Amino acid sequence: MKDRILDLIRDVPDYPQPGVMFKDITPLLDDHVAFKAVVDEIAGMFEVDKIVGIESRGFILAAPVAYRAGAGFVPVRKKGKLPSATLEESYDLEYGSATIEVHRDAMAPGDRVLIVDDVLATGGTARATVELVRRTGAEVVGIAVLMELAFLKGRERLEGVDLRSLVIV
Ligand code: PRP
Ligand code: MG
Repeated sequence: MKDRILDLIRDVPDYPQPGVMFKDITPLLDDHVAFKAVVDEIAGMFEVDKIVGIESRGFILAAPVAYRAGAGFVPVRKKGKLPSATLEESYDLEYGSATIEVHRDAMAPGDRVLIVDDVLATGGTARATVELVRRTGAEVVGIAVLMELAFLKGRERLEGVDLRSLVIV
């Protein structure tokens, strides 16, 4: 499956800015066999109560994973998008910076949580999401990503968390 995933992720040079090689997952999403295989693989990794998806590309994977795993879906959104009381964390991205939020009451102590995103780059997004989940009192059982960009060393920012990457480049 790894080779198939790699074939279906397109490298786009100089997007969104010069010097950045963008990993475009849309060809994979457009292949229903590969998309289903990815969702099924992630859904089978852990026994959890909730799947946390990170806006926006993470939502595309996390929602079907939650459906498949029989778990609740919790959105982590960019600041200002969630209507009820939130917790927030700020972090640096590979390009730019951002603040993300989660509803305070979306998770609670005793909840086992899997965080899902498409790509792990510097790890800033995933690290901030781990903090958000832990601040609700819930347990981060793992993080699953489709692709890990090893040269950016995001894994080093997630020590102590069970990080599973379907492909590492
Ligand atoms: C991308 C990607 C991951 C994050 C990884 O999201 O989807 O969420 O960057 O980068 P990091 O490991 O360096 O934090 P982006 O913020 O570009 O937004 P999007 O998902 O809305 O496209
Ligand atoms: Mg993202």
